[in-house]
Amino acid sequence: MLGPVILAASRSDRLRRLVSAAPVTRPVVDRFIPGENVDDIVPVVRELTDKGLELTMDVVGEDITTPEQAAAARDAYLELIDRLKPMELGRRAEMSVKLSMFGQALPGGHELALANVRPVVEAADAIGTTVTLDAEDHTTLDSMFAVHEELRRDFPRTGCVIQAYLFRTEADARRLAASGSRVRLVKGAYKEPASVAYQDRHEIDKAYVRVLRTLMEGEGYPMVGSHDPRLVAIAQELARRAGRKQDEYEFQMLYGIRSEEHLRLAAEGHRMRVYTAYGTDWYGYFMRRLAEKPANLRFFARSVVGR
Ligand code: FDA
Repeated sequence: MLGPVILAASRSDRLRRLVSAAPVTRPVVDRFIPGENVDDIVPVVRELTDKGLELTMDVVGEDITTPEQAAAARDAYLELIDRLKPMELGRRAEMSVKLSMFGQALPGGHELALANVRPVVEAADAIGTTVTLDAEDHTTLDSMFAVHEELRRDFPRTGCVIQAYLFRTEADARRLAASGSRVRLVKGAYKEPASVAYQDRHEIDKAYVRVLRTLMEGEGYPMVGSHDPRLVAIAQELARRAGRKQDEYEFQMLYGIRSEEHLRLAAEGHRMRVYTAYGTDWYGYFMRRLAEKPANLRFFARSVVGR
């Protein structure tokens, strides 16, 4: 019951200001977002890669309101790529981007987001890695898929995310699987209406399995984005049935969530990529993590009241 309330709060500017300014918030936020700038994050990259894990890196931010902020988002990713270059990690450190942070919701936003994300994809390609376009709320997806298709003409390894809770996703998965794309499948983290998305957790899980089967049987590279132990086991079985080897798909989980499982899967020889977010504009990302597991909210509330 709490999840939808927290998701609604994730779009409130008043709460954003309140929560972001509270000094007690930071230690709780650190669990999910281990740093505010590129200097904080480089040691985290080293630590995770030393443990045999791979990364997809997100400079947090979304819903920006000016073209200057969109350009700053682009520059933040370019700075990150510049810092990763001498580390020679190649695909072990990829990027994830939200097009809303690149200006997608501004006037002329589709073109603006494409113009801002392209140099990031180019720079990533130049250091031997790639970019995945995150999926945001359903109203943004036609534009995201169009940007993805456009980028894939020059950079075919550019990936995108699809969300099992949306009715449209089975058709999107068939199209993307046939085109040989890299695709991350997740359950979906936004507050969506019943007209476009399953609301029942069980229905969402069943849809996840159907879509995953399509991806595993297709021509592309499936990225299994979930912490759900049942879905992780099913993914391994579907990959086996589809005749995929361990390097023909991968698992992805979020930094700070089920970290022991990251290590267990990597030790079994799987490619395990940790979605690692950093930056100062962490409010939306943080609130979605609270909504996924309301126990996190109790932990957060306890630290706010100092107990
Ligand atoms: P589920 O929510 O059922 O969780 C399974 C178990 O994992 C829980 O029982 C709990 O133990 C643990 N867990 C999950 N979330 C937790 C949390 N926040 N705190 C503590 N424990 C938690 N969504 C989206 O809409 N667009 C996107 O682009 C992405 N990108 C993305 C990348 C990656 C790598 C991942 C793993 C996830 C996303 N998501 C996302 C988020 C996704 O949609 C979903 O909200 C979360 O992954 C939670 O769903 P699970 O599949 O983990 O299952």
